[in-house]
Amino acid sequence: MEKTKVIAHRGAAAYAPENTLPSFEKAVDMGVDGLELDVHLSKDREVVVIHDERIDQTSNGTGFVKDLTLAELKNFDFGSWFNMNFCQTKIPTLEEVIELLDRKKWTGLLNIEIKSGIVIYPGIEEKLIDIVRENNLGDRVIFSSFNHQCLKVIKEIEEKAEIGLLYVSNIIDPWLYAEYLGAAALHPEFHIVYNNPHLVEKCREKSIAINTYTVDKEKHLTGLFKYKIDGIITNKPDLALKVRRKYQ
Ligand code: G3P
Ligand code: MG
Repeated sequence: MEKTKVIAHRGAAAYAPENTLPSFEKAVDMGVDGLELDVHLSKDREVVVIHDERIDQTSNGTGFVKDLTLAELKNFDFGSWFNMNFCQTKIPTLEEVIELLDRKKWTGLLNIEIKSGIVIYPGIEEKLIDIVRENNLGDRVIFSSFNHQCLKVIKEIEEKAEIGLLYVSNIIDPWLYAEYLGAAALHPEFHIVYNNPHLVEKCREKSIAINTYTVDKEKHLTGLFKYKIDGIITNKPDLALKVRRKYQ
């Protein structure tokens, strides 16, 4: 049985501004198995890495990502809100993240979360598949989303693409739903998995992976590593790696 993967949530988001190159670099340097990041489309249809639909929370700018061109987005500072040491950090495109990972010769798992719910980005799925194909990342990427329609479109474009279903509520028999959609994984909020050996057992039986989010406390990490699920998405990859060494 493989070890549970430690997947850095928005990079090492407890230690650097989320979804930026310094955050991903820090996570890679910590020795993570995977990175999770969130994507949106700019006004000129570039895939940019940011969590919110708006830039207000994580930059010195204001407005919706969809209303700003990449050049306009690049004018803002996405680091100072977190810590002045990161002042003038720019919003990255997905391709810039991939370039960084190539430069670092990092070959881990990339979890691309498609943020298409509050703002809908028609055609984002084709753009993502193109980027993944151009960079030969097919077997290293898992797409996830709370918008399962997007994931269905991903599968229609590229049958071999792996998808993980994000969810927060207690769905009945989610392994059957995953099978129906051809999903490789479930990505439940961690309270759903915690103390739920039945879910873990059923998914194992059906070869459906469980990658759970967002787990930052030692107590929860411990419980989940004991279950030997497939992946844990965390803002504190250093802590997760330390706890994993104890139990696996
Ligand atoms: O992909 C796991 C997690 O990132 C989902 O929620 O809101 O942090 O993107 P959120
Ligand atoms: Mg996310």
